Amino acid sequence: MNGRIGGDLVGKTALVTGGATGIGRAIATALNAHDVRVAIADIDPAAAAATAASLSRDAIAITMDVTKRASVEAGFAEAVAAFGQIDRVVANAGVSNMRPALDLTDADWDFNFDVNARGVFLTDQVACRHFLERGIQGAICNTASLAAKVGAPLLAHYSASKFAVVGWTQALAREMARHGIRVNAVCPGFVRTGMQSREVIWEAELRGMTPQAVLDEYVSLTPLGRIEEPEDIAGLVVFLLSDAARFMTGQAVNVTGGVYMT
Ligand SMILES: NC(=O)c1ccc[n+]([C@@H]2O[C@H](COP(=O)([O-])OP(=O)(O)OC[C@H]3O[C@@H](n4cnc5c(N)ncnc54)[C@H](O)[C@@H]3O)[C@@H](O)[C@H]2O)c1
Repeated sequence: MNGRIGGDLVGKTALVTGGATGIGRAIATALNAHDVRVAIADIDPAAAAATAASLSRDAIAITMDVTKRASVEAGFAEAVAAFGQIDRVVANAGVSNMRPALDLTDADWDFNFDVNARGVFLTDQVACRHFLERGIQGAICNTASLAAKVGAPLLAHYSASKFAVVGWTQALAREMARHGIRVNAVCPGFVRTGMQSREVIWEAELRGMTPQAVLDEYVSLTPLGRIEEPEDIAGLVVFLLSDAARFMTGQAVNVTGGVYMT
């Protein structure tokens, strides 16, 4: 193992879904800074291309809709063709919308489950098949959420889809362990991204508050006393994908500034 955390990642390759913006972009950037060649897989081709172009080392943009098996398989094959193989995978793409539980529609439920749960299932399954075919002792990190640990009001459908990610992560980790493949998840809190900007406006409207009051409440719920930044998560993901975490699998690690502690 190379001295610094993540040193063993030098020269490896990774695919990050939802890598064009927000948390995924920060993860892709941190991996790239560790000399990892990164495939930015996103449903938004222009944003993916801009993020790939902004990275200093070898990075490519791939158009992928994680809800569609054919798209995940084709995007993964494109990344393998470009890099030879994929060693690390971050299933990070996710969506949300907000509504009281009793007003949720079938479409709300399906939208959240299609991207957040099916998307992680498809991405991880395609990744693990690739690892097994090539004999790669790969590692995966799924982006779950604080809402995967405690039910989040106005986000019942989102919460349920993120609990699903943790259950899938644990079961897949148990099945893959004998192949030397590790599967973990991260659970971020209140993170400053496009998703948060949208949620703050919806929540303010649904609760009769101002968007600033919603943000202030997030901070007051956070013992470390500020809004989380995407970079706060990226370092943990680098750690989980590296040899420093070689004896960790099936974990869903909180990175919330202390909002949730068990
Ligand atoms: N922002 C938060 O407070 C927060 C908290 C906990 C967990 N999360 C999770 O972190 C992950 C990233 O969220 P974010 O806050 O960076 O959101 P974001 O909206 O800023 O970024 C999400 C990215 O996913 C992409 N995407 C959406 N649907 C896709 C699809 N079908 N296929 C491929 N890509 C798709 C988007 O184009 C975008 O680039 C999500 O899984 C989210 O649920 C976010």
